[in-house]
Amino acid sequence: MRNTVPGRRRSTATASLAALSALTLSLAACSGGSLSAADAGGDGEGDGLGTVKVGLAIPASGVYQPLGDDMQQGFDLYLDQHDGKLGGADVEVVVADEGEGPDTGVPAVNKLITQDQVGAIVGLVNSATALGVKDAVEQAQIPLLIANAGADQLTDGSDYIWRTSFTNGAVGAALGPAVAEAVDGPVYVMAADYAAGHESAAGFIEAFTAAGGEIAGESYTPFGSTSDWQPYLSQVQSSGASALYVFYAGAEAVNFVTQYDAFGLHDEVPLYGAGFLTEGGVLDAQGDAAVGVHTSLHYSDQIDSPENAEFVAAYRDAYDEAPTVYAVQAYDAAQVLDLAIAEAGSIDSTAIAEALGSVGEIASPRGGWTFDDLHNPSQTYFLREVQDVDGATVNAVQGDLG
Ligand code: BEZ
Repeated sequence: MRNTVPGRRRSTATASLAALSALTLSLAACSGGSLSAADAGGDGEGDGLGTVKVGLAIPASGVYQPLGDDMQQGFDLYLDQHDGKLGGADVEVVVADEGEGPDTGVPAVNKLITQDQVGAIVGLVNSATALGVKDAVEQAQIPLLIANAGADQLTDGSDYIWRTSFTNGAVGAALGPAVAEAVDGPVYVMAADYAAGHESAAGFIEAFTAAGGEIAGESYTPFGSTSDWQPYLSQVQSSGASALYVFYAGAEAVNFVTQYDAFGLHDEVPLYGAGFLTEGGVLDAQGDAAVGVHTSLHYSDQIDSPENAEFVAAYRDAYDEAPTVYAVQAYDAAQVLDLAIAEAGSIDSTAIAEALGSVGEIASPRGGWTFDDLHNPSQTYFLREVQDVDGATVNAVQGDLG
């Protein structure tokens, strides 16, 4: 297997820098972590708004830990670029470990609400965790900006929950018609056996079959505990499928793609997936095994635009690696909070939640996007192909999927 991209791997030194940066922000703002308008304005800092305490709930452990690292970096970068302020208010960041799933993620968010008494929450990678905290967040009336978890119904009808990422169904659906056009024959579907995997598969299957595609079979693999994909890959092979669509992310994506390659399916059954399959550090770890894999996603560090070029340069400068979709989603969440607090002229949680409806277009490295009626991004999805460019694997952008 060829060498990986040296610049993208996160060194211990870089990790320490990110942690230090968060700690510095917390210390700089340790005058009280104001939560409400009643607290605001008393410390003479910022624009007199006081200090907004933001809970950053991201995985620091489990299969999604690298995604959490990227989110921390994206959020930190935005703060660093804005003097550590959001909407003119000083910021205290409280980081909570979401872990792998609801068992760890739900208590982490509950702690942010009850013990840390944060004024807003950003983060959440895992859909099952996000679904598990929905009621608590609404009861506490704290704005939650989901910066990854894609559970389809998560934001519906909520005054407090907004999302800067995607819905799982939309990412899968974006790829359906393109696969129906490119593949001559039935497609097998495989995904992690929890909310995100099922929704991603359902979105793909609906759009793919509506475009004339045929499904060869489906398998859902135990989330977080599957280490051997061979039995499932055998099923794909014996199904006679002409291609494979999958949903895996983080460590599962690395294991799946390397085993798919080692099993000998690479040249036999082309691989398609939701873009998390080949995003960021996992692509480095997959190396040549990922070359030729096609995915749908709303970001690639290869997007050719001045906005993205500026962001990629700033991110590389800060962390010595390329940004990922997870970093962008968290960067944009900081931007949305910045705009909402400025619009509200207050760090009161309810005022921030109300102002989230008026933030308008978000100027993002992925391209401009707005919140739709269900509080999800209305955005462009891209068709990406993993290519070897000058000895480094990248998610080359092949076009828009709408
Ligand atoms: C999810 O649980 O919604 C999810 C996790 C990782 C990547 C994408 C989606």
